Amino acid sequence: MKINVLASDVHTDFENIIVMATADGEPEFGECAIADKPLMLRVIEMGDFSGKRGSCLLVYGEDGRRWAMTGLGAADKINGRAWRAAAAAAQKKLAATGAISAALILPLDADVAEVAAGLTLSGYKYDDLISKKAAQGKHLEEVTLLLPEGADIASIEETLSLSAIHLAGTQRARDLMYAPGNIVNPDYLAAESMRIAAKSEGRVKTTVMNEAALAEGKFDALLAVGRGSVNDSHLVIMEYTPHLEEIPEKTVVLVGKGVTFDTGGISLKPVALMEEMKYDMGGAAAVLGLFHALSKLDLPVRVIGLVPTVENMPGSQAYRPGDVIVSRSGLSIEVISTDAEGRVIMADALDYASKWEPDLLIDLATLTGATVVGLGHECAGMMSNEKGAAFEEALKVAGEKVGERVWSLPMFEEYGELIKSDVADMKNSGGRYGGGIAAGKFLQRFADHAPWIHLDIAGTAYLGKEREHNPKGGNGFGVRLLLEFLENFN
Ligand code: BES
Ligand code: MN
Ligand code: ZN
Repeated sequence: MKINVLASDVHTDFENIIVMATADGEPEFGECAIADKPLMLRVIEMGDFSGKRGSCLLVYGEDGRRWAMTGLGAADKINGRAWRAAAAAAQKKLAATGAISAALILPLDADVAEVAAGLTLSGYKYDDLISKKAAQGKHLEEVTLLLPEGADIASIEETLSLSAIHLAGTQRARDLMYAPGNIVNPDYLAAESMRIAAKSEGRVKTTVMNEAALAEGKFDALLAVGRGSVNDSHLVIMEYTPHLEEIPEKTVVLVGKGVTFDTGGISLKPVALMEEMKYDMGGAAAVLGLFHALSKLDLPVRVIGLVPTVENMPGSQAYRPGDVIVSRSGLSIEVISTDAEGRVIMADALDYASKWEPDLLIDLATLTGATVVGLGHECAGMMSNEKGAAFEEALKVAGEKVGERVWSLPMFEEYGELIKSDVADMKNSGGRYGGGIAAGKFLQRFADHAPWIHLDIAGTAYLGKEREHNPKGGNGFGVRLLLEFLENFN
């Protein structure tokens, strides 16, 4: 979507116009020359439009214009989420009429980045594989923000161009998530990382380790999980260096779980909703989407992205329950369930991350159903080691701002007992209770070389139904969160 700006005190001939209003308040017209104030006030007086957050009503003026009145909710509770939800609701409502462009009367106090996010992200539709695409009505292609008097045009334009880069990162992550497992396999993720590097003007360097290189490097845990699949496993390594005079001091390493399809392996999953396991590369999608954005930005931090990527399939070569695998770090893992595969591949990648002596190590993984049970779809589960805990607050703040929330779970030593094994250094499943934390404790054994944060995004990476600015399906969770966090990391 293209977002333009225009001063609002001039007459324009837009046919579709978005007006934002708070609950119980008046619509925010500012000095807008074209505003049909009597019409809106009549609608509100008649009680047809409440201004409730995310509600949207279309009304038609005598001059032939279509007005989308969209709700910000209670005036004393306006935050980023309100701006996003109001913009998203209007975008969807207008797009459904077949409209392709609109103007939006921007209130002076609007959070421009979140308005842009609502407009852009709510218009996402994956239709690459539909042969007869809808010609119109998919989403608005162009929105012109009508700026109020006193608005700082230069800073709004700057915000918009930066947001466009961030949002394109999220959309790219979504594309990767939506595309099915027969298209997005480990080779595809590796190729995608190369495409991102190729268009980065030298900011991003990609290396792909194939199975031979992984064997050479003793990534035996990662390799074990991928053995049941005909598709080769990989470790994708992306290194970001901004175009800045001074070399950044700090290094952040990000690891994203890239299971391109998770059948459960020999511990086969039940039929119901197994198709959703194409989203089990949501962590990888977040890292790749982030690098898509980084490839166009110069942030003063060095970022390394690691994507261990495999397909978890049953087969005659597949790893089995009861197997003991010696991971890259030397720690041995007893396989209780081949469906607890994410932590097994992440183990080798987290261990490998020590090569960069990270100032911070963050992993993102659709790791456990237990976290979805505990937290639902409102936030990702956040766990950390002692040195990583100091970064939790900043991640919470970033997540709240962009609408990708994270929340802390405890990491008491005692939880480590859940994964004690009789035959190996640890086992890969600790049973049902505390399952999200047991997985975190497992990862910690491989991540303790650095300050470390683990984000279990199983409940937030994709949604079973459309909501606010997110479509049904993969939503690119993590891209905006990490960009917001990294922008303030130093
Ligand atoms: N990919 C799944 C976790 C998952 C579940 C993601 C639901 C998104 C939605 C993971 O590989 C898995 O299967 N975890 C098991 C672990 C168990 C066997 C210890 C789980 O959560 O059931
Ligand atoms: Mn699994
Ligand atoms: Zn999985």
